[in-house]
Amino acid sequence: MSFLQLVSQMTPVRRWLSRKNPFFVCDFYFVLVLVIFLGFAANYVGIYDFIFFEKSFDNDFTWPPRVFDNGFYQDHQRTSDGRRIDYVEFSASLTSSLEEWKLNSAFWKLEKENDFSERPAFAQGMMSMVGQIPVLRQHIKYLQFITTPVADMPAPTACTLFHSSKSVGLVILVKSAVTHSARREAIRKTWAAASAHTMAKNGKESLYQVLFVVGVGGTHTSGTGGADVGVGPTTGFTYQYQADLMEEQATHGDLIQLQFLDTYFNNTAKTIAGLHYLLDKCPILDARNGFVFFSDDDMLLNMKNMEKLLDGIRAERDLQSVPNDVYLGHQFPGSKPQRWRWSKWYISTDEYPFSWYPPYITAAAVLLSKDTAEKFFYASHFVPLFRFDDIYLSIIAHMLQISSQDRSDAIWFDYVPFEGNAELYRDKMIAAHGFHQPEFMISTYQRLIAVS
Ligand SMILES: *[C@@H]1O[C@H](CO)[C@@H](O)[C@H](O)[C@H]1NC(C)=O
Repeated sequence: MSFLQLVSQMTPVRRWLSRKNPFFVCDFYFVLVLVIFLGFAANYVGIYDFIFFEKSFDNDFTWPPRVFDNGFYQDHQRTSDGRRIDYVEFSASLTSSLEEWKLNSAFWKLEKENDFSERPAFAQGMMSMVGQIPVLRQHIKYLQFITTPVADMPAPTACTLFHSSKSVGLVILVKSAVTHSARREAIRKTWAAASAHTMAKNGKESLYQVLFVVGVGGTHTSGTGGADVGVGPTTGFTYQYQADLMEEQATHGDLIQLQFLDTYFNNTAKTIAGLHYLLDKCPILDARNGFVFFSDDDMLLNMKNMEKLLDGIRAERDLQSVPNDVYLGHQFPGSKPQRWRWSKWYISTDEYPFSWYPPYITAAAVLLSKDTAEKFFYASHFVPLFRFDDIYLSIIAHMLQISSQDRSDAIWFDYVPFEGNAELYRDKMIAAHGFHQPEFMISTYQRLIAVS
């Protein structure tokens, strides 16, 4: 008996079929249920986001020119379930204010020290403004929390070694996970082997410094934790793998460990907290010629080509009275937020209301000049964190009117096999993706050395 025959013999179905005109005399309730079901299904896959809630953000990526007196624009919207969300935009006029703010020694530090009497007028204005915007007040608190180094974890050796000389030309901040010690080991043995720290130990001139940024392994002992980005701070942690990390630090001295849970969706915290640490607590970068490179721990770097790139940029910037900003890497010029709910990269319109992302540099490999990194650092105090670190940086860049520069010819997002591409690896490649197996990183690096 076929399946259809079987179904047609079930009592309710038999009754239905014995009607005079079963398909025309359709049940009212049946249709109603169907409509409700389809409505829910459409909501589930995120269609309403597209249709009702998404704000247009033109293809040419001009933000709506809405400017508040003080350079900020605050808006709110209601979500489908009536919740109010606040969000903040700031205008390009802030770019000039950032300079002023820097001179005023940054209200950020003043707030930390809680010394309100000494606060310069400009910083005072900023502070009271931030105080009025709940979303920012919460954000600043969260930043303070996640940028706190973990107690008892010693600072990276390089941060004390080069502190006064500020002579490091390039700091590579490798975003690594607590448990990825084997990947870090592979990186130390390969492209980071000539890292400034090692060279200085041998009494040589420093060139570049590799530092690994990690969070905390474990769970929160209290508070909500949860999947929310930018929600916190919560009080304590149960530390996991902490003894291993301490030992690793004692041996290599190249870890920056900060107070956020080390999870995939805390990558933005990792990026921003790492940047804050470098500029605020570990000021070793050469002021004029310094660069920051963010890297994932599955990237293979070719330091020779990296140096060529930096030398080229430095020579160019030497000729400019105000050097151009450098925000460079593998660029994605036009991506839309994923509104399909089952996607790993799903973003609700609550989190990001616009229909396009600004052109962004994929976070696996991002190069910033020191002055550009500083602008990002200051601006990050005004922009609540966003789940994806590359998009977050691009939002800041967009607000600062810094454009991203594509070098996808040399910084590869997709894995390129070494086999058949040895020359590309030798002459062109600056950063290559896809080396999450430590042995594979090492063997490919050896092949690269062999052809160099
Ligand atoms: C990110 O870290 C913060 C601070 O530790 C934590 O409250 C939050 O739950 C973490 N977020 C994710 C998505 O793990």
